[in-house]
Amino acid sequence: MNEIKENFPLLAYNTFHVEAQTRYFIEFNDIPAILNFLSSEHAEIRPCFVLGGGSNVLFTKDFEGIILHPVIKGIEKTDEDGESVIIRAGSGEEWDNFVAYCVKNEWGGIENLSLIPGTVGASPVQNIGAYGVEAKDFIHRVEAIRIDDGKKITLTAQDCHFSYRDSIFKKDLKDRVIITHVNFRLNKKHHFVTSYPDVQKELNNYPETSLLTIRNAVIAIRRNKLPDPSVTGNAGSFFKNPVIDREKVASLRRFFPNMRGFESPDGSVKLSAAWLIEQCGYKGSKQGKAGTHKKQPLIIINKGGASGDQIYRFALKIQKTVMNHFGIRMEMEVNVL
Ligand code: EPU
Repeated sequence: MNEIKENFPLLAYNTFHVEAQTRYFIEFNDIPAILNFLSSEHAEIRPCFVLGGGSNVLFTKDFEGIILHPVIKGIEKTDEDGESVIIRAGSGEEWDNFVAYCVKNEWGGIENLSLIPGTVGASPVQNIGAYGVEAKDFIHRVEAIRIDDGKKITLTAQDCHFSYRDSIFKKDLKDRVIITHVNFRLNKKHHFVTSYPDVQKELNNYPETSLLTIRNAVIAIRRNKLPDPSVTGNAGSFFKNPVIDREKVASLRRFFPNMRGFESPDGSVKLSAAWLIEQCGYKGSKQGKAGTHKKQPLIIINKGGASGDQIYRFALKIQKTVMNHFGIRMEMEVNVL
């Protein structure tokens, strides 16, 4: 069995770069390592938490249980027809390396999701999304192992109950499975999604639209707008964009005529959390060693040496201010532990 580490530091395992430690920590390079662990007495340790790239988690204190860290690698084509390919990737693959590999092979679909930090295994959990594309549009099947009984299970995209930054892995299956592989159905015939104004504008700098130029455009936009987690601790958007029904938005717009939001076909409106936060005066603001990014206030940053608890308290303050000002609750997107 892989070695179980005790009182293990998590500084290098979270992109907020906060100090915390976990009572126990174990890494898995393959399925047998997981099964071995689950048949040992250590499988009983609770709480347990599956950690991918640590790019969507905030440790506010030491973790008293066991952290399970899959580092399963490998990308293979398992099926193909005239239109599409099925690509199976290990959950421990770096997400952006996976995107780069698919773009290089001319397999289309996830190029708009370039440069999102984290691992392949995390992509179905929060149904990562950017620039008009969500992971759910291309996830074919998710392979996992149940922690309770070590049984291998396979979920279809439908079984995953995907919605905006949400899935069954954040609800019924939370802390109950270890995702080992994700299978994607990608297109040989490409359908580019270039509807986002930022993407359209950036693509003007390139001679043609292709998987590679979209990838490069998205990378350029993200580099310009979002803080690099290897330099400035952050976990991307801290809150979800609140989804509100149309009538409520209409009544709010009587008081806030410029309130920014995007209508979806079902009649709901996704409000811009960045706008709500900015209106409350929090753009580029700080509280102690925590702050918001100067170009995108939805991103909370560690300005150097902040504790997870300080960051969390700042997030709560922002959440409360937006609630008092607009009567809108912004749900946290980051997993707070
Ligand atoms: N905006 C402001 N003030 C600002 C910045 C933005 O009012 O300071 C407004 C923009 O004008 C725009 C709206 O907010 O109308 C949306 O801004 P942006 O394009 O940056 O997208 P977002 O809704 O803030 C979402 C995702 C990002 C993803 C981008 C691009 C969520 C929670 N976040 O952000 O995902 O990269 O769209 O598609 O849905 C993440 O999940 O960690 C993440 C970074």
